[in-house]
Amino acid sequence: MNILVSGGTGYIGSHTCVELISAGHDVIVFDNLCNSKVISLDRICQITGKRPKFYQADMRNIDSLRSIFQENRIDAVIHFAGLKAVGESVAKPWEYYDNNIVGSLNLVRVMKEYDVKKLVFSSSATVYGVPAIIPITEECPLGSTTNPYGETKKMLERIFSDIQKANPDWHVMLLRYFNPIGAHDSGLIGEEPNGIPNNLMPYIMQVAVGKLPYLRVFGNDYKTHDGTGVRDYIHVVDLAKGHVAVMKKFNDAPGVYVYNLGTGVGYSVLDIVHAFENANGIKIPYQIVERRPGDIDACYSDPSKAEKELGWKAMYDIEKMCKDSYSFAQKAL
Ligand code: NAD
Ligand code: WQD
Repeated sequence: MNILVSGGTGYIGSHTCVELISAGHDVIVFDNLCNSKVISLDRICQITGKRPKFYQADMRNIDSLRSIFQENRIDAVIHFAGLKAVGESVAKPWEYYDNNIVGSLNLVRVMKEYDVKKLVFSSSATVYGVPAIIPITEECPLGSTTNPYGETKKMLERIFSDIQKANPDWHVMLLRYFNPIGAHDSGLIGEEPNGIPNNLMPYIMQVAVGKLPYLRVFGNDYKTHDGTGVRDYIHVVDLAKGHVAVMKKFNDAPGVYVYNLGTGVGYSVLDIVHAFENANGIKIPYQIVERRPGDIDACYSDPSKAEKELGWKAMYDIEKMCKDSYSFAQKAL
């Protein structure tokens, strides 16, 4: 298929381009490079032997999207582009709603203009809020979000579902990612956040390479086995492969399909610290500090629907996730 990947130079997007190309798809990428670098494309080429066609375009500019659709035959869109920092979204709600909502509306408007009816959307486990069921199935009711970022994911799920209802020949795939970490085996692509990282693994990576002195563990009084927050960490390459698996679903009846992409296993913050230390033979100093506002005790998936319907299952364990994160950090940070 000819697949347009929005946000394709970013962390999950670049890994997904590699897997799509390896599976024989043709990939066109657009990104405004606000949180990634154009060198990702060279890296994708080094890994796969193919450099995706690239447009530096901002999805808030609808005409720049029109020219991409005008110049290419596109069968499906995988939509990663968006701003994703939870804390920043609280400080800059205008920017988050404008970028994520207005930009995404432009994208689906242009898809409609050019009769492209297949959409895969990067949603998030954040839509479950404080989950009503653990492990979380897709039937778990959506919860209330605590920040504008999470709200954009919930709103966009609703918007895309309403668009599908009004256009019953559309396929809309809502993929709810849990906590992606790790990097490609080659160490060529991975996550490089700007400034001081917010998320756990990027922070540990900075401590591991000596850029930050120690990890702050946000609270040890959660209702979990060791008191620290439990999450479902998934290797980014497994996550990327989930997108390839979803392509098969386009052969089924049109509709809205929702899948959790996680491993089904929950690890605490201290489990991750120890796994990282054991996998890489280094010490990660840490201090327990106050809880981070908005954090929940535990969040992990029941990923069985994706296995049953897509034939996809995460394969990599926590040791591999920690090893690959560190190899990338040593090269890139
Ligand atoms: P990322 O920041 O690495 O990638 C997003 C890309 O979108 C970046 O390259 C950025 O430059 C681009 N972008 C942002 N606004 C744009 C715009 N207006 N026009 C064009 N390009 C734009 O983030 P990621 O971790 O790869 O996440 C990809 C998607 O998955 C995002 O939608 C994110 O919300 C979602 N997601 C991520 C996580 C996670 O923990 N990483 C979890 C759940 C969902
Ligand atoms: C994981 C655990 C922290 C940093 C966020 C978004 C979510 C999704 C993934 C996009 C928690 C603890 C963290 C640190 C710590 N993104 N922690 N010290 O909060 O599960 O999810 O990213 O959709 O929407 O909310 O991930 O990596 O920030 O935190 O102790 O320096 O690590 O308290 O228990 P989170 P995270």
